[in-house]
Amino acid sequence: MPYADLTRVVLETDQRQLPRSHAEKYELKTIWYWYPLYCLGGIAFVAFVILTITGILLGFFYVPDGRLEINPTTQNLTNPAWNSMLVIMNEIPFGFIVRGMHHWAAHIMIAAVFLHMCRVYFTGAYKKPRELNWLLGVVLMLITIMFGYSGYLLPANNLSEGAANIGINMTRASPVIGDQLARLLFGDINTLTGVYILRWYWIHVFILPLLGTGLMILHMGLVWLQGVAEPH
Ligand code: HEM
Repeated sequence: MPYADLTRVVLETDQRQLPRSHAEKYELKTIWYWYPLYCLGGIAFVAFVILTITGILLGFFYVPDGRLEINPTTQNLTNPAWNSMLVIMNEIPFGFIVRGMHHWAAHIMIAAVFLHMCRVYFTGAYKKPRELNWLLGVVLMLITIMFGYSGYLLPANNLSEGAANIGINMTRASPVIGDQLARLLFGDINTLTGVYILRWYWIHVFILPLLGTGLMILHMGLVWLQGVAEPH
């Protein structure tokens, strides 16, 4: 064996002081570039914590009533939910910052959850024995999307109305129970009177947080028990 190679072998075995690196242990051919992407699940969770804190603060001032009324001074059509958004943005100290943080954390959470799912897929981390955690992840993804949809309705502006109409039509298109389900979720199924705001507020601040928090604890508890999958 050439002298230089012999030196290397000795250094890597007998005299080695450091533990073997991950790349050496698993004989990876390249440095594993993708480690930063292992943060994405954690980033989604941090975004969720920020959303919870800022959401609690917004809840002190938001009025979940979207029923239409005429503004006595301007004679414009308005509603208490939208008026409470104006108060949060223009009168409550730091209100616009707290709303802004809630808005951007929501965007970051959706992006992080999607990219986290891509990371899990492309590293093959969904394979045995982590199938259950992948399925839990699918439900968490749906919950995250529903958080986004319900939050989009809450300002009770024209965009919210548009989104509510799309939601009603999609729900009504479900077989057999479509109409009943739409009535349950939105209150009205033909002309919007604004009842949908209270329904979706309850989904946004109670049902989804309850389900989401429980499933996130389970999801991350499983990662804690099973360990993070090694890349190969
Ligand atoms: C609210 C959304 C979610 C949160 C807070 C979350 C959180 C986490 C965290 C903190 C980890 C540890 C490793 C890492 O961060 O990459 C993890 C791992 C994992 N997640 Fe998620 N996750 C979410 C959604 C999803 C989705 C949508 C999927 C797939 C459909 C998924 C499937 C998995 C799997 C299979 C693992 C184990 C990966 C491994 O061992 O390498 N998760 N998750």
